[in-house]
Amino acid sequence: MRLFVALWPDDAVRAQLARWSRELHALCGGRATPPENLHVTLAFLGGIEDARVAEVERAAGEVAPQAVSLVLDQPGYWKKNRIAWAGASSVPRELDAMVVELREALSRAEVRFDAKAFVSHVTLLRDAREPRAMPALAPIEWRLDGFALVQSVALPRGSRYEIRRSWKG
Ligand code: 2AM
Repeated sequence: MRLFVALWPDDAVRAQLARWSRELHALCGGRATPPENLHVTLAFLGGIEDARVAEVERAAGEVAPQAVSLVLDQPGYWKKNRIAWAGASSVPRELDAMVVELREALSRAEVRFDAKAFVSHVTLLRDAREPRAMPALAPIEWRLDGFALVQSVALPRGSRYEIRRSWKG
């Protein structure tokens, strides 16, 4: 199954992200991430055999969930993949440390993951045009309380994400 570890927003944060998405869509067009799919990926595992999921859960369970605020205050755009996203001008060091801890635990368990460096972002729009200027958007204060192991289920129109397990601080 296709798995990733992510920060999962509560309904209030999700609603604010959906609002950013609508405002950016007016400028950039593209395909909006459905609100129920909005998240920050901490580690992308990709295809994992069913028999190994328990090991993944054990490894993730070794990580101390951090209760810290992540302030999303910076919309961004990547030309290389035409993605518009929500980011943070300052990422709390507890969050960076939690991602390091998570990736170390996965490595010890010999669970493979995409080794690209962690860049805290929520993908809002794909196939988006580059805006002439980024709009000013109301900052979103996201009080993190843990992280989730998420399964990506392929559907004819995009993916549905299902939380398999979550760990709270
Ligand atoms: P994103 O982080 O830019 O949004 C599920 O596919 C999630 O994992 C998406 O959020 C996706 O992109 C992220 N992701 C990170 N690395 C990936 C990879 N190598 N392949 C697919 N998705 C990846």
